[in-house]
Amino acid sequence: MLTFFVILLVLLAQAVPENLKLQRVVVLSRHNVRSPLSEHLAEITPRPWPHWDEKSGYLTPKGVYLEGLMGDFFSKWLQNEGLLPQGCPEKDDVFVYANSKQRTKVTARAFILKAFPECNVTIHVGDKSDPVFSPFIHNNTDAFRKEVVDSMQQILDSLNLNSSYELLENILDYKDSDICKTNHKCDLETDMNKINEIAVGKKPTVSGPLKICNTAIDAFKMEYYNGFSLPDVAWGELNNSRWETLSKLMEGYHNVIFNSTILAKDIALPLIKYMKDIFINKNTKFTLLMGHDANILTFVTGMRFKPYILPNQYEKAPIGGKIVFQKWLNTNGEYFLRIQYVYASTNQLRVGSKLSLVKPPQFKVLELEDCPVNNEGFCPWETFEKLLRDF
Ligand SMILES: *[C@@H]1O[C@H](CO)[C@@H](O)[C@H](O)[C@H]1NC(C)=O
Ligand SMILES: *[C@@H]1O[C@H](CO)[C@@H](O)[C@H](O)[C@H]1NC(C)=O
Ligand SMILES: *[C@@H]1O[C@H](CO)[C@@H](O)[C@H](O)[C@H]1NC(C)=O
Ligand SMILES: *[C@@H]1O[C@H](CO)[C@@H](O)[C@H](O)[C@H]1NC(C)=O
Ligand SMILES: *[C@@H]1O[C@H](CO)[C@@H](O)[C@H](O)[C@H]1NC(C)=O
Repeated sequence: MLTFFVILLVLLAQAVPENLKLQRVVVLSRHNVRSPLSEHLAEITPRPWPHWDEKSGYLTPKGVYLEGLMGDFFSKWLQNEGLLPQGCPEKDDVFVYANSKQRTKVTARAFILKAFPECNVTIHVGDKSDPVFSPFIHNNTDAFRKEVVDSMQQILDSLNLNSSYELLENILDYKDSDICKTNHKCDLETDMNKINEIAVGKKPTVSGPLKICNTAIDAFKMEYYNGFSLPDVAWGELNNSRWETLSKLMEGYHNVIFNSTILAKDIALPLIKYMKDIFINKNTKFTLLMGHDANILTFVTGMRFKPYILPNQYEKAPIGGKIVFQKWLNTNGEYFLRIQYVYASTNQLRVGSKLSLVKPPQFKVLELEDCPVNNEGFCPWETFEKLLRDF
């Protein structure tokens, strides 16, 4: 009886028709919970920020723990699908590749230690500025720079974030911040957002209110996920609707710097080509690539995914979230692709609840513009390969 319920729940969560068998999985992941990146937090508010034990941008012990839960879940899921054996996988069946930053390397290790304990799985790491994971601009023409600035400006102009700015200004007590006192820029709603120089080998950036807001909200989110007591998370000022209001600022910021098609395609091209090689030329059963939100967001735009909403999350690229490419084979010998975003909800992150086949992370089917899916989320593998060959 219990087995029956477990199977039923698994089917509900992952919904796979019976005649399909999983052949391969390729995962593009964001690292897990880290300390805030910015060293300028103290300038944007007179209120005291909580103390972090880790260096700026380092994975935290909670991040290690949460990623372990994901690793444990993935191995159980893939064993349940018959893709991986119980115990250690064969050497050639698993390939792991992480960006060289501390937070990506440590996240990959945390995943592997729980997914394949005592199995000696190698984690491959590239150079310090590995082109595959560096969200940098490549095109060095004036025409490109002009098109990019125009499209970024267009996105900037389309944003309507006044109520979000107003809320954050109050929470930060922005008018009393050092940045207001020294720069005399004291109004998030009316201060200018400036698109910085578009240059080869650099990330696109904007400076001004949107950037400042993103910095603050990123810190709030990490405080929340890392388990700080609620009075220490944004000084106890947030509830669900306020989280939602503030998250629009982060989404707006990401839209400006990563969601213009011409820009995203240029930035993500090395990653797309790397993954194309994996999809077309390799046959590893389980591949894990560990990078950043910048990788996921530019990849999604560059590959022309349809817009998506992730239930129970406020972000388009949640912390520790994974885009999971699955290759399936049916009994007629036809191959299919299914892509799902697999991620922990905000609550799962905060609580750190154990993930299992009965209590899985969130699964959300994603669709490529050029590979339409059926009701169950599958598109023909052939169509997918054809679109990859255009890159
Ligand atoms: C672990 O893997 C590495 C690289 O494949 C190998 O050199 C080493 O001998 C292995 N260690 C054990 C204990 O199997
Ligand atoms: C650089 O951008 C321009 C303008 O969009 C485009 O015509 C050109 O093909 C791009 N070059 C490369 C190498 O992608
Ligand atoms: C946002 O607020 C500013 C200043 O209060 C105002 O000038 C602007 O028109 C508002 N924008 C929108 C879209 O309402
Ligand atoms: C969130 O907090 C604000 C300010 O205290 C309040 O006005 C609002 O009703 C709250 N919303 C929810 C859903 O609790
Ligand atoms: C990118 O922009 C499109 C509209 O052009 C929007 O529908 C989509 O949600 C945006 N993507 C992200 C990740 O925010």
